[in-house]
Amino acid sequence: MARDALETSMAGIKSVWGPLTSQVVDGCRRQLESLVKAPASEEWLAALHRDAPGNRELYRDPTHGFVLLAHTEHEGLYRPPHDHGRAWVIYAIQQGEIEMGTYGRIEDPDGSVRLVKRGATLLRPGQVQVYLPGDIHDTRCVRGPALLFRFTERDLKKEDLEEHRVTRYVECDAAWTM
Ligand SMILES: [Fe+2]
Repeated sequence: MARDALETSMAGIKSVWGPLTSQVVDGCRRQLESLVKAPASEEWLAALHRDAPGNRELYRDPTHGFVLLAHTEHEGLYRPPHDHGRAWVIYAIQQGEIEMGTYGRIEDPDGSVRLVKRGATLLRPGQVQVYLPGDIHDTRCVRGPALLFRFTERDLKKEDLEEHRVTRYVECDAAWTM
């Protein structure tokens, strides 16, 4: 039986998988670039458009542990700056537009921490964005509903709720801090 784009891209990622290198990231990025071009007639994608789930797991690799999630976001949804613990992450936009900002973490001699915004990128359908371990970013849905795929090198929920390695920042006096 012919494989759909989801199966093909996950098989492609398995075939390039290994410790984090530029080559592995590039291989995964290419697979996600193909995935967001999948025909809307494919059942798994039609179901996402029909159901518009806030959060749906599309794939979890039993051997390597990587996870692919789909998120439907309404226009205006803002997710404040955060990192992804030890994970690296690729976002791919299937529908809508998402602005992603990136931040540097500055520590003062007194130990206080604040984020400084480096810039922002507007992601349109077909575009992907890679975040490596330690990268800090926020997201804002500027045209919705948006459908985005989030590929994570490991289970981010576990990294967050069990390992407590994900850092989220809060706004205080017009600056992002811990
Ligand atoms: Fe993120």
